[in-house]
Amino acid sequence: FGIKKMTSTTHKMKKIGHRGAAGYCPENTFPSYDRAIEMGADYLEIDVQLSKDGKIVVIHDSLVDRTTDHKGKVSDFTFDELRKMDAGSWFSQKFRGACIPSFEEVLDKYADRVGLLIELKKPSLYPGIEKMIAEELKKRNFHTKGDDHIIVQSFETESMKRFHELVPEIPVAILINYPPDTVEIKNIAEYASYLNPKWTVVNKRVIDLIHSNRMKAIAWTVRSRKEAEKLKHYPLDGIVADYLDLIE
Ligand code: G3P
Ligand code: CA
Repeated sequence: FGIKKMTSTTHKMKKIGHRGAAGYCPENTFPSYDRAIEMGADYLEIDVQLSKDGKIVVIHDSLVDRTTDHKGKVSDFTFDELRKMDAGSWFSQKFRGACIPSFEEVLDKYADRVGLLIELKKPSLYPGIEKMIAEELKKRNFHTKGDDHIIVQSFETESMKRFHELVPEIPVAILINYPPDTVEIKNIAEYASYLNPKWTVVNKRVIDLIHSNRMKAIAWTVRSRKEAEKLKHYPLDGIVADYLDLIE
């Protein structure tokens, strides 16, 4: 009596703030993450790379040119140098002085409030980055939680295989921007828990194939009403969006 039956069809589509709330704030900054949480994000999507002195930093491009007031490669600056850059003004003067966060700061400030979808950006440029990320996550016991609160993703399959071997308890995801074939999906399912397709690649065949290989699918990146409308028709496990208010 009174016991609610849980069915296997219970399904909640996760809302994931792309680089925080990239449509409203300068991407990958604290104001952007705060805004995404205010807007109801289940996860923040962040991009990580290494500074010249080997600190894990959160920035999308390999160059600082587009999102700061400086020019050059992320890997040619120390963390202190990156930290002094203005990562807000390019978006709007309102955000002048917003800084490039370190990975540790993002973990300590946000991981107890929201899930994190951590993208290793061009990890082949940063040998050893998988081990460094694994250490930071293990230090905070994220590997003992047994859930998908932290997901590590990349376009680079070798990097994700390596990460999976280091910390099999933390789920990894492969990003794809082309329609994958059956063999490829099977190979990815050997080590990955997610196969995350670009929104253009989403169709019934692809999503069914991902699910029938016991993986989940997070589609990226919704930037318009039209894109959000298309994705509504598929049983996705999550959607990454610049504008979280476009997804339900
Ligand atoms: O989460 C997927 C998405 O972030 C991948 O593309 O270029 O925005 O990092 P990009
Ligand atoms: Ca990303």
